Amino acid sequence: MCRVVCPGSFDPVTNGHLDVIGRMSQLFDEVVVAVGKNAGKNGLFSYGERMDMLREVTSHLSNVKVEVFDGLLVDFCLERGIRAIVKGLRAVGDFDYELQMSQMNHRLADVETLFVATNPLYSFLSSSLIKEVCALGGDVAGLVPDAVLERLIERLRK
Ligand code: PNS
Repeated sequence: MCRVVCPGSFDPVTNGHLDVIGRMSQLFDEVVVAVGKNAGKNGLFSYGERMDMLREVTSHLSNVKVEVFDGLLVDFCLERGIRAIVKGLRAVGDFDYELQMSQMNHRLADVETLFVATNPLYSFLSSSLIKEVCALGGDVAGLVPDAVLERLIERLRK
């Protein structure tokens, strides 16, 4: 069985994330979406809320699981016997840091990183930009799943 991890902050999940997760679910037996806890970052949504949203929007993908992790991503992978991480690359700007992390993760635990080109429809998206635009009254419909849109409006505008 070939399993991969799709890690991220997912605060919240966007259609760009969902596109990568869906494509990977067609290539691999199981995709574990891993929500990373980051002590330094104050999120808009709690980790529980992020996982609930991810579970809701991936419920049609039977081989996708959602989990949360704390600590090193490679430890999360090793504990589950998973040998590869998948990351979406939106543009060259993503590449330097992602390359650095992939080389560190390989050095730490022989865990490979597979880079997937993001769908160009969503290559300008980030969770941070979505939150900023939505908070200022901009229309982000079509850029996040509908269930996420409702929660964003509720959280940011009420
Ligand atoms: O969506 P993000 O914010 O780009 O996700 C970043 C994440 C959670 C994937 C990354 O910060 C991560 O892997 N964190 C776990 C801690 C870790 O393993 N750090 C060393 C990386 S080489």
